[in-house]
Amino acid sequence: MDLFEYQARDVFAKHDVPVLAGEVIDTPEAAREVTERLGGRAVVKAQVKTGGRGKAGGVKLASDPAEAVEKARAILGMDIKGHTVQKVMLAETADIAEEYYVSFLLDRTNRTFLAMASVEGGVEIEEVAATKPEALAKIPVDAIEGVTDTKAREIAEAAKFPAELVDQVAEVLKKLWDVFVREDALLVEVNPLVKTGDGKVIALDGKVSLDANAEFRQPDHAALEDKAAADPLEAAAKAKDLNYVKLDGQVGIIGNGAGLVMSTLDVVAYAGEAHNNVKPANFLDIGGGASAEVMANGLEIILGDPAVKSVFVNVFGGITACDAVANGIVQALELLKSKGEDVTKPLVVRLDGNNAELGRKILTDADHPLVQQVDTMDGAADRAAELAAK
Ligand SMILES: Nc1ncnc2c1ncn2[C@@H]1O[C@H](COP(=O)(O)OP(=O)(O)OP(=O)(O)O)[C@@H](O)[C@H]1O
Ligand SMILES: [Mg+2]
Repeated sequence: MDLFEYQARDVFAKHDVPVLAGEVIDTPEAAREVTERLGGRAVVKAQVKTGGRGKAGGVKLASDPAEAVEKARAILGMDIKGHTVQKVMLAETADIAEEYYVSFLLDRTNRTFLAMASVEGGVEIEEVAATKPEALAKIPVDAIEGVTDTKAREIAEAAKFPAELVDQVAEVLKKLWDVFVREDALLVEVNPLVKTGDGKVIALDGKVSLDANAEFRQPDHAALEDKAAADPLEAAAKAKDLNYVKLDGQVGIIGNGAGLVMSTLDVVAYAGEAHNNVKPANFLDIGGGASAEVMANGLEIILGDPAVKSVFVNVFGGITACDAVANGIVQALELLKSKGEDVTKPLVVRLDGNNAELGRKILTDADHPLVQQVDTMDGAADRAAELAAK
């Protein structure tokens, strides 16, 4: 989960990383009072989960409260790379002498953590990384040792921070590593980290990405979720422990096992080319169990998506045999009916693997008007795409 800048700022403050005071608002008028509290001047900053806000006009200086209202009015509602600005942060203004870059991240390729740092920070860091890679120091960080005093100085020196700043920067790096470890982050980035006119080092902008796999031991992180942006179907699926991702096509997909579902997406996309270019509407892996309840939950989510025109249930029986899955489908349809949910979209079911014959017989005997069976994956994908295109 990516955090907004203001949330990253709060997390930094919690771990004693030096930041400036700031408050987040969602109406222009609120800027007046906040700017007064911040000492009469403020930087107005768009809060969107994408980079390049400054360049897009989403970061503006206001010299007095009235101007802050104006700037907030201009930035709220602005579109930045497809993200509508719903909130702005007003921050204290810094007297910037230099802009630097520092980050910690998980380097999957090299199976390590990595520190990156540069004295050429600011809005052009991507450019620096591309054209002057030697100006961006990259230092691996051992997961067990972490960022010790020695390691922190090594990073600061590799990035060629001026000697008189190395102690201060090393201190900030240690605190940022604290953020990284204690918050279970995958990325902690500060750009710019600035030196102020009076020689202080402060984090002026923060990007933090948290590891969703650590949710179970980070109870505070749930509150950081951007509920407004969450897809309601994805939220409902998550509440039911289903592995669901909404896509933008018309064929609902249910399968058992992530690998099978992935290849089902491919096969449906391919089959769709011959049927008005219909595409998969979602990814949904019901996993190994596939009980009637799980099947009902899955169907309920998928049928709740108005974009879905047909559903392809693709199951390869393994530990859970096809007869159990077939019973699951029959019971799921009954369950939905008893809940008063009107199932009107056609279901194409392909059963293969353990007890496929028996599973197919159960569906044939149930003779549900909306359920059709096709024995091959390609054939079923084609049928589902054809039904969706109608
Ligand atoms: N509190 C502040 N006081 C003075 N100047 C600031 C302040 N915050 C940001 N700036 C200036 O604005 C520039 C851009 O700000 P910031 O880094 O927050 O946005 P950005 O880099 O455009 O966004 P992103 O990191 O999402 O690409 C900074 O490099 C800095 O020069
Ligand atoms: Mg920035």
